[in-house]
Amino acid sequence: MRSHDWFLRDGQAGFKARSRMKNQGSPQQMFDGRPVIGICNTWSELTPCNAHLRILAEHVKRGVLEAGGFPLEFPVMSLGETLMRPTTMLYRNLVSMDVEESIRANPLDAVVLLVGCDKTTPAAIMGACSVDIPSIVVTSGPMLNGKFQGRDIGAGTDKWRFTDDWRSGQMSTADYIESETCMSRSDGHCMTMGTASSMACVVEALGLMLPGGAAIPAPDARRRRLCHFSGNRIVQMAREDLKLSRLLTRAAFENAIIVNAAIGGSTNCVLHLLAIAGRIGVELTLDDFDKLGADVPLLVNLKPAGEFLMEEFYYAGGLPVVMQHLREVLDMDALTVTGESHAHNTAEAVCYDDSVIARLDAPFQEGAGIVVLRGNLAPDGAVIKPSAASPALMQHCGRAVVFHSLEDFHARIDCPTLDVDEDCVLVLQHVGPVGFPGMPEVGNMSLPQKLLERGVRDMLRLSDGRMSGTAYGAVVLHIAPESAVGGPLALVQEGDMIELNVPERRLHLHISDDELAMRRAAWQAPPPSAERGYTRIFLENVQQADRGVDFDVLVGGSGGAVVKTSDAQAGS
Ligand code: FES
Repeated sequence: MRSHDWFLRDGQAGFKARSRMKNQGSPQQMFDGRPVIGICNTWSELTPCNAHLRILAEHVKRGVLEAGGFPLEFPVMSLGETLMRPTTMLYRNLVSMDVEESIRANPLDAVVLLVGCDKTTPAAIMGACSVDIPSIVVTSGPMLNGKFQGRDIGAGTDKWRFTDDWRSGQMSTADYIESETCMSRSDGHCMTMGTASSMACVVEALGLMLPGGAAIPAPDARRRRLCHFSGNRIVQMAREDLKLSRLLTRAAFENAIIVNAAIGGSTNCVLHLLAIAGRIGVELTLDDFDKLGADVPLLVNLKPAGEFLMEEFYYAGGLPVVMQHLREVLDMDALTVTGESHAHNTAEAVCYDDSVIARLDAPFQEGAGIVVLRGNLAPDGAVIKPSAASPALMQHCGRAVVFHSLEDFHARIDCPTLDVDEDCVLVLQHVGPVGFPGMPEVGNMSLPQKLLERGVRDMLRLSDGRMSGTAYGAVVLHIAPESAVGGPLALVQEGDMIELNVPERRLHLHISDDELAMRRAAWQAPPPSAERGYTRIFLENVQQADRGVDFDVLVGGSGGAVVKTSDAQAGS
């Protein structure tokens, strides 16, 4: 156990380590060599989706103590989607560094990662992977369904819808404000199949969470039991040395890609899975998502691709049912945190509502996975989620209406004189990792008001940014290389014709190679958006979307060994 090198030492070093810990009331027997379990908590009142994680941590502690471990909770930076500016994605890698260094520097034998809101989940896993000690994930759980004027509403998805209705005059301001209150009525993260729910399911598919854990509603007492059982299990994992690298094999990532497709999961999972794979040393590429996931049918009928919300998903049987339905295409022998395979974990799963979870032979939609596009506009790739887009726009050629920044977009999109119709392609530049910076969720640009008023609800939109997992539309995202580093997106001009062909995986700018070369020669890089601080570190180290937007210097891991200590030698 790593902790022995702190707490079982003789002399001054052991005295110092044990003595000060005793000021919290821990008796001598806690330092007898039992596994020390870190509870890495992304709790924050500024992250409403994770605001109840201190309560859940108490249930993890009960489980750890019951199993004979010594639980120690510690905070790391939290990332709340709804408040942080300019965007949480700017800070995902920073949190991963916080998690990695906090784990390695302390006497921890294993960790429970308490996460929930979108970026907190990948950030914590990335950090833990770079240390590679036994780890188990517990998410904060989805909120209860929103309830508004007699119907269920989903976080994010219905916000976008209501905003379009309100902007086009179909919804009153009073109703719009009232819907805010009705949307967020319990603890938990977004209860649509947005990024938080998608990542929770992906984590379960990776084998890092106890079976069925992803979908339990946050206020449901069964989530507290999940915490208790996770506390029990992590102690055993520490004793078994069941490290992340034993679970996160290539097969685990392939399972996660297939599951994300079948649940209609978020495009953000592409970035996070690439980054996690990079940390643990598994070869994973953007093309794997298309190859493994694009043809997977949609089995889960949840917003934004479908009808229901996470509560119904849980009551219908949750992810174990989905995995069982997918057993012919998944590697069910992959090992999980239970110490058993998915086949073992899901053997008893029962579907209680096939209007929520479909069988593989009767899916809600064929070919629902994320598609990877290439072409002269995206040499290193781009993604689109056809299950959340208008089928009619999946083969489309239209005239580009170009916005050079998010500020330019906001200034002009509702201008009555903007030359735009529903066949146009909205192009947003400089919202990539370097350009914004931090790659914000602005790819699902709101449509021009004059078109909304005419009933238009979808248009082809292109950017180097991201899209909220709760959003929908014919939205091409993650274009790489991005415009701020000279990618072809930077060279698109007003009036150019752009063609999207999803069946052929093509994104093409209809100008000649000579014209493209001329524009490239005239292109000038924008000035860096930061001169100092963390943002400068981000700009100097961030990789493009096709590499998961991780820092080049963070790829891989350094293990759990502490190279040097300033402590006195044993016995002195
Ligand atoms: Fe936190 Fe959606 S805002 S999960």
